[in-house]
Amino acid sequence: MNITKTLIFFCLLGVLNTAFSQQRDIPKKVDALLKKMTLAEKIGQLNQYNGDWEATGPVTPDVGNKLDAIKRGEVGSVLNIVGVKHTRVFQEAAMQSRLKIPLLFGQDVIHGYSVTFPIPLAEAASWDVQAIEKSARIAATEAAAGGVHWTFAPMVDIARDPRWGRVMEGAGEDPYLGSLIATARVKGFQGKGLGSLDAVMACAKHFAAYGAATGGRDYNSVDMSLRTLWEIYLPPFKAALDAGAATFMNSFNDLNGIPASGNRYLQRDILKGKWGFKGFVVSDWGSIGEMINHGYVKDNYEAAEAAINAGSDMDMESRSYIKNLAKLVADKKVSVAVIDEAVRRILTKKYEMGLFDDAYRFSDAEREKQAINTREHVEAARDIARKSIVLLKNEHQLLPLSRDLNSIAVIGPLAKLKKEMKGFWALNIGDEKEIVSLYEGMQNQGGKTKLLYAKGCEITDTSRAGFNEAYKTAMQADVVVMAMGERFDMTGEAKSRSDIHLPGVQEELIKAIMSTGKPVVVLLMAGRPMVFNWTADHVPAILYTWWLGNQAGNAITDVLYGSYNPGAKLPITFPRTEGQIPIYYNHFNTGRPARNDNDVNYTSAYIDLPNSPKYAFGHGLSYTNFTYSNLRFSKKSMLKNGSITVSFDLQNTGKYPGEEVAQFYLRDLVSQPVRPVKELKGFQKLMLQPGETKTITFTIDKEKLAFYNDKLERITQPGEFRLMIGSASDDIRLQDNFVLAD
Ligand code: GLC
Repeated sequence: MNITKTLIFFCLLGVLNTAFSQQRDIPKKVDALLKKMTLAEKIGQLNQYNGDWEATGPVTPDVGNKLDAIKRGEVGSVLNIVGVKHTRVFQEAAMQSRLKIPLLFGQDVIHGYSVTFPIPLAEAASWDVQAIEKSARIAATEAAAGGVHWTFAPMVDIARDPRWGRVMEGAGEDPYLGSLIATARVKGFQGKGLGSLDAVMACAKHFAAYGAATGGRDYNSVDMSLRTLWEIYLPPFKAALDAGAATFMNSFNDLNGIPASGNRYLQRDILKGKWGFKGFVVSDWGSIGEMINHGYVKDNYEAAEAAINAGSDMDMESRSYIKNLAKLVADKKVSVAVIDEAVRRILTKKYEMGLFDDAYRFSDAEREKQAINTREHVEAARDIARKSIVLLKNEHQLLPLSRDLNSIAVIGPLAKLKKEMKGFWALNIGDEKEIVSLYEGMQNQGGKTKLLYAKGCEITDTSRAGFNEAYKTAMQADVVVMAMGERFDMTGEAKSRSDIHLPGVQEELIKAIMSTGKPVVVLLMAGRPMVFNWTADHVPAILYTWWLGNQAGNAITDVLYGSYNPGAKLPITFPRTEGQIPIYYNHFNTGRPARNDNDVNYTSAYIDLPNSPKYAFGHGLSYTNFTYSNLRFSKKSMLKNGSITVSFDLQNTGKYPGEEVAQFYLRDLVSQPVRPVKELKGFQKLMLQPGETKTITFTIDKEKLAFYNDKLERITQPGEFRLMIGSASDDIRLQDNFVLAD
C-alpha cells in the first residue's frame, strides 16, 4: 500500500476512532451532567414548546415569554421554528441557562423542506424504496441546513380507511410495503448517522394504531385485537426502530380504552422493553393533557403521572410536565429515577447530534443558502413525482398524447393552481414561483400544440356557470385534459371526510365535457382515494396524480406525453363508495365468501354493490404490456428451517420501455387462527425494454410464513400454501401451491 493510501487509511482510522470514542463516552457525559442538574432543570428537558411560527395543533394558553423560560432552563425542545436565523435566537437563549444545555429544534418535515416532494402516500405508490429514501435524504439535507435537528417523520401508521384525512401522510394499507418504506424514510432522514451535518433525527409516529380510528374520524378511539395490532399495525414501527429511528411519537387515540400517551403496554412493555428502544418518546401535540378529555385522568397532575410512568419522555405542548412533575416527585407518585431515565434518553440524543460540542453547528447561514432548493433537489422531486403517478385506465391507448396535436383544452379547477400541488404538511418555505402547475408544465413541453383553457367549475361549490365556456373550449380542441380533485386541505390532519366523492359539481363537469365526444383525459389530484364511479366507468384515460409537490406540472406532463411511462401501483384500496369501507385486500375469507362480484346468495356481500373495490391494492397500468410465464419452484415442499426459490419470466410485450412492479402474495390455506386470502410478501420493480424478458426470483423462508397465534407467539404451522404472482392484488398471473413440512 503506497504512502498516500497508508496516510489516508490511518487518518480515517483516527477519525473513526475519535467518533467511536466520542459515542462511547456519551453515557459517562450524560451521567456527569445529570448529577449537576437540579430536579427543575431535569423537568425542563422533558418540556417542549411550540415556537412562534405556526401552531400545528390547538394552541393552549400562552406561557409568557418562551425565551425567558428557555433561559431559566425550563425548555428542552422547541418545534415549528424555521430557518437558521430564527433557531439561533432560541439557541442563544438556551446558552444563557445555568448549564447551557442546547435545545432540540423539531419540525414536521414530512415530504420535503424547501423543495416539496409528493405526499408520502403518493411516494408509496412508486413502490420505489430507493427513490423514497432519496426523497427523505434531500428533505433532511435541506432541513438540517435550515437549523432543524429533528423531523416528526416518518408517519408509519397503517391506514385502511380513506375517510381518515391522514391517510395522505403514510404508506397505505400494507404492513410489508409500509415496513420497507418506513425503513427507507428513517435511513433517508438519518443518513450517515446522527451528528452528520446533513442528518436529522427521525421520529416514527404515531405509536400506535392511530390509523385505525373508528369511522376514519381523526383522533377517534381504536379498538382492535392484540393480534391485529401485532400483525398489521406494529410491523412498520418495528422496521423504523430496526432502521435506527432516534425517536418515536405517541398518538392521540386510545387503544382499547387506554390512551397511547399513558399506555405502558405500548411504550414500556413493547417499545422500550421487548424491542429495546434506546431513543426517546415525545407525546403528540397536547396528547398528555388530552387524557383528561379521554376521561382517563382527572387533571394535568394525574396526566403527568400516568404519562411519565408509562414511558412518555417529552411533553409536547401540554405543559403537564413542567407544571406538575416536581409536585409528583414530592408526593412520591413519580420517582426521580423515572425522570432521570427520560432525561438521560433526551440528553443522549443531544450529545449524539453534537450539540454539546457546538450548539450552533446546524445554524450556518451560508450552508443554508447553498444546500436548499438546488437543481439536483428539484430534478429528484420531478423524478419521484413521475414515479408516483398511477395510470388507472387507458382505453384505446389514448395516452400518451401526440406532440403533433393542434390543440389541447386544459379544463378544471386545479389546472392552474400552484400551492395546492404541495398537498398537506407542506412547509411553504420556498417561493410559490418554484411550484409548477399543470398548465405551466404543459406550456413548458407543449411545443407547437395550442393550449386552450377553461376552469369550468370550482373545487367544492355547486355553481355550473362555467360549464358552457368549458364545453365551448373543449369543442375547439383535439383532446381535453381535465385537472380535477380535492382542495389541498381536504386531506390531512383533522380532515376526515364522511363523503369522499369527487367534490362539488366536478363529476357533472366531466360528464358535460364527455358529451362533446372529444377524447378526454382526467387527472385526479387528492391526498386520499376518492370515489368517482361515473368518471371511472366512462372516461377513457385516468391518471391519479395525488399531490406531487413543486414539480407536479412537469411530472404530469412527462407522463401525458410519454417521456415517462407510468409504472406506479396503488398502495391502498379504492372503494366503490363509502359504504364499502373498511375494504382492504388482505382480508379473511369468512365462512361464506362471495364466489364472484355479484354472488349474493347467502354470502358475505352487499346486495346493492359488487363485492370488489373500484381499484384494488397494487393496481396500476403502463403504456406497455407485460406477460408473466414459466413459474418454477426449486422444490414444492419446504422444511421449517429451509427455503424455496421461486422463479418466473417477465416480458415486455408492448412497444414502450416500461417498469413493472411484479408482486408476490402468499396464502396459508389452512391455519389456526385463520390467515388472509393473500398477503404481500415481496415485489420487484424493474425496467424492461420492448420485447425484453427477465427472470425474477423470490425466496420463501420461514419468516414469510410466520404469523402471531392467539397467544401472540410468532409461529409457523405446517401445511399447504399458495404462491400468487401478479401485476396487482386482483390481477394474479401465476400461482401454484407448495407445502411447509413438519
Ligand atoms: C400534530 C400531529 C403530529 C405532528 C405534531 C407537531 O398534531 O399529530 O403528527 O408531528 O402535531 O406538529
